[in-house]
Amino acid sequence: MSIHSQKAAAKVNVSTIRKMKSVEPITMVTAYDALFAKLFNDSVEMILVGDSLNMSFSGKPDTLSANMEMMIYHTRAVCTGAKRPLIVFDMPFGSYTTKDRALKNATRVYRETDAQAVKIEGGKERAKIIKTLTENSVAVMGHIGLMPQFVRSEGGYKVKGKDDENIQALVEDAIAIEEAGAFAIVVEGVKCEAAKAITEAISIPTIGIGAGVDTDGQVLVWSDMFGFFEDFKPKFAKQYLNGAKLIRDAMESYVDEVKNRTFPSKEYTY
Ligand code: KIV
Repeated sequence: MSIHSQKAAAKVNVSTIRKMKSVEPITMVTAYDALFAKLFNDSVEMILVGDSLNMSFSGKPDTLSANMEMMIYHTRAVCTGAKRPLIVFDMPFGSYTTKDRALKNATRVYRETDAQAVKIEGGKERAKIIKTLTENSVAVMGHIGLMPQFVRSEGGYKVKGKDDENIQALVEDAIAIEEAGAFAIVVEGVKCEAAKAITEAISIPTIGIGAGVDTDGQVLVWSDMFGFFEDFKPKFAKQYLNGAKLIRDAMESYVDEVKNRTFPSKEYTY
């Protein structure tokens, strides 16, 4: 029996996630509200309250203007909807620039929400910050490769791990993050050879997004995977549903029925 089915009803924690490495692929999805979090409650092991909500929920062009207040508000909603998966709070841009700031903000996350971990973008240059958090009992998920919070400083979303030198740098980043005490690392937008090398080099799980099949788990942004976000469609984002079409069709039916006075019929009338 898989860890997933054994633990079907039990709360997932960081120890469950660590134990899944090399045993069973880990599933993670983003959520920003209680309604969808509740729908995801019984399936995935982890829910990420990603700062991607700044784009897909708030309609901004990138994640950079997300702030602690927004992230806390959405995380509380997700924690209300989903009780079983491990919930990860994505630290917004600027909230972990120094050890003190990171600790102050991560402490706020634990005090004001039920999230069990925070996620931080960056490689070995962030190791000291991650160590400060883990030494102060905050569970941390790293995030390397394509890092959306670097979109302006790097001039776009750049796929990483294209040559041996860059693969080696990514492996070193992952090792530094593991040594700093992180329990898992998101590996985003890297060539699959790089994701494989990173996954083999560390003993904590890698969670891939646009990183091929050799990571220890996968994460997708819910609005991409269910076809609601139409502004931009990354190559890796498989659509499991054409949500936007379903909504438009349903809305058209509603508008037609109101216009021709077939809604509300007797069935929907007191
Ligand atoms: O914000 C987010 O949704 C993320 C995922 C892309 C991993 O960081």
